[in-house]
Amino acid sequence: MAHSHEDSNTRPPVSPKDASQADLPTKTCGGASLSWWSNTLLTWYESHRRELPWRETCNPYTIWISEIILQQTRVAQGIDYFHRFIERFPDVRTLAEADEEEVLKLWQGLGYYSRARNLHAAARQMAEQGCFPHTYEDIRRLKGVGDYTAAAIASIAFGLPHAVVDGNVYRVLARYFGLHNPIDTTQGQKLFKELAATLLDARDPGRYNQAMMDFGAMQCTPMTPRCTSCPLSDGCWANANNATSQLPFKQKRTAVQHRYFAYLYVRTGEHILLRRRGKGDIWQGLYEPVVIENDAHTPTEEELRRHPLLHDVLSAAPLRLLAQNITHQLTHRHLHADFYVVDAPVGTSIEGYTAVREELRTQYAIPRLVERLFEMVDR
Ligand code: ADE
Repeated sequence: MAHSHEDSNTRPPVSPKDASQADLPTKTCGGASLSWWSNTLLTWYESHRRELPWRETCNPYTIWISEIILQQTRVAQGIDYFHRFIERFPDVRTLAEADEEEVLKLWQGLGYYSRARNLHAAARQMAEQGCFPHTYEDIRRLKGVGDYTAAAIASIAFGLPHAVVDGNVYRVLARYFGLHNPIDTTQGQKLFKELAATLLDARDPGRYNQAMMDFGAMQCTPMTPRCTSCPLSDGCWANANNATSQLPFKQKRTAVQHRYFAYLYVRTGEHILLRRRGKGDIWQGLYEPVVIENDAHTPTEEELRRHPLLHDVLSAAPLRLLAQNITHQLTHRHLHADFYVVDAPVGTSIEGYTAVREELRTQYAIPRLVERLFEMVDR
């Protein structure tokens, strides 16, 4: 998009009364307004930007890794993961040559493990192609790369004019322009994308995109935005209408699924029983101890004793309750779990599980919930 962004810094792009109109981008974003918007934002960015390790490079590999990590966690926690990841896998080739298990292990604690598997698969795609793709369309074809990530990499690493639209951008635009279009519908997203593209500063798209994201993360925050010190507050619809808490607007409340587990930490001498989770459910490829899932409540001790998989083991060894009703939240799931320890005779086996040396437990990639079980066992 070839807008001209002259150094005019004089007037806001819209007045609050225009702001609720959905066709606002084409109507109100003339050249002067565009440069006002972008100049204000970039001036703010100059003095408030976060110094982040991936901002010292335009290496597309590094930027790709940082963007995927940041989809999963906040910047503060992401930095540690980023350093560990880049140290172990400094380039596409080392990542492509790694075992998936090692990649999952480094990802441990970030959740949403399909992102780690996709990273690995995409590295293999690139190793085959021989280079990092350098057009938006080719970047977008990488496994696990959606519109947001493709725009981030294309703009930051290659200076291409693609606007990012993430949660921060939705918030800033919805509030400033007073847009009530739902951000969880295709139609709403299309409108925000078009507006973001119109506002993009083509002189340095990567810098502009990161300014928008930092602005959303630090100034126009979700809960208590800092409106009194905001350089955009004069023209901001939500500020004028005391409506920051209502925007951005979502149409649907996502249904939360409840799941109920009993975990049994079965020790057989120097071993414990673990299995690797299969395809088609949460935590694919991660390890866990013996687990029984129920539909409506965590399994009772009686149900565990009667369970065909456990019947023989539990008639020979006591079941010791470690913790009850541990809860754990995933994006659309609320997990409930009870933790047990079973000290079973040496040689005990359970179908589907493998005996691994207890002292080597830390080598396996596990979900956070299982890590909590391990921590309680060790207390
Ligand atoms: N969130 C995700 N990627 C980001 C980036 N490059 N800058 C700021 N915030 C981000």
